[in-house]
Amino acid sequence: MKILVTDFDHVVHEVTAEADWPIMEAIRSAGLPIKAECGGCCLCATCHVYVDDAWVGKIQAMDDEEEMMLGEAPQVRPSSRLSCQMRMAPELDGLVLSLAPTY
Ligand code: FES
Repeated sequence: MKILVTDFDHVVHEVTAEADWPIMEAIRSAGLPIKAECGGCCLCATCHVYVDDAWVGKIQAMDDEEEMMLGEAPQVRPSSRLSCQMRMAPELDGLVLSLAPTY
């Protein structure tokens, strides 16, 4: 499966993502500049991404832990998510997102 990730220079990258992988791991494995300082433990908000509006409703819902940590990220939008808390699934094949500001 694949996801399309826009980096901070507005370049779109096609990234391979295996089923059940955290999206953050797929982005990091592709060598894109995502900090993900806590390694996916929902403790840092440095894996912040903006999900394309067309995909927002297809992603697994945010839990309280993610919502609280996301509140620490800068420039949060309604489409903001922590990419370590989203898992790749067949229905997300072709997911479109952008890297978002962190600290
Ligand atoms: S990698 Fe730290 S919250 Fe996602």
